[in-house]
Amino acid sequence: MTGGGVGSTRSLRGIGGLFDRIADSYDSAVPFFTPFAADLAAWATPPRDGTVLDLCCGDGACLAALLPMMADGTVIGIDLSYRMLSAIGGRRPAAEKHRRMAPVLADAGELPFQDSAFDAFYCALSWHFLSSPSDALNELWRTGRPGATLAISMLGPSRHTWPFLGRVLSRYVPRLAPGPGAAQEEKPLDARMRESGWLLTGTEERSRQFEFSGATEWLAWQWSHTGRVYFEQVEDSRREALQESLLREAEQAHRRTGLRFTQHVTFIHATRIGGDVRKDGSNHVR
Ligand SMILES: C[S@@+](CC[C@H](N)C(=O)[O-])C[C@H]1O[C@@H](n2cnc3c(N)ncnc32)[C@H](O)[C@@H]1O
Repeated sequence: MTGGGVGSTRSLRGIGGLFDRIADSYDSAVPFFTPFAADLAAWATPPRDGTVLDLCCGDGACLAALLPMMADGTVIGIDLSYRMLSAIGGRRPAAEKHRRMAPVLADAGELPFQDSAFDAFYCALSWHFLSSPSDALNELWRTGRPGATLAISMLGPSRHTWPFLGRVLSRYVPRLAPGPGAAQEEKPLDARMRESGWLLTGTEERSRQFEFSGATEWLAWQWSHTGRVYFEQVEDSRREALQESLLREAEQAHRRTGLRFTQHVTFIHATRIGGDVRKDGSNHVR
């Protein structure tokens, strides 16, 4: 186990629990992950057949985009949250219809798969949750075939029209505990990749704009994402008052400027270097 104390939003159990609570409403108010996942799959197209692993697959935004692009083959999705994985069938019936998709409850840092099992890997907007990206990269190398590819999308900066959110929250929770997204090692990703047997083979900057139809939709969206951890820190007895304050402020912002934001994302492509995994499990390239 990595991260903070058990149950904190930085521990594996804490992250899994948070997404279990989010699962019912995840990405439903204004789809955010779904279009970015489709962008990633279109940018780094999967092999026509073969076996693909979607790391931190959530409710299947990325695997639903990948499956129709593959003539044959299988996509396996792993995630820490049982309820996110369970939502795949309901939320993405097209993916399940393919019958070439398998959800597996697992940690990205300890993959329950044999060596050299996969041709390609994806990780959509989840890398920042990994407390040890190096562990994940080593596991991807171990379970990847020679020449396997890895496509990651990373959250970048965002610009939004709700500067009031932090101010209102601070009236209810004077000292907010940090959200999920563990503190990662400082080393640049390309250096970390090289150490784990991955060569950075491309990057691309993307951005998308999102607009909310009003304050209610905006607030529902906030609850349906990891921002929810901040609201959950407010005492139950004060939560209704918090919601009312936020709705009031959001209505004003909607009238004045609209409720919208621009999210920047970086796409990263890497290729596995080196041959097969040695019998002793060690990495050929190190
Ligand atoms: C923001 S969601 C993104 C889900 C999906 N990739 C998408 O684009 O919609 C992040 C997901 O990562 C999962 N996750 C976080 N840390 C993980 C880990 N160490 N191993 C497996 N899944 C993890 C969470 O449970 C959650 O479902």
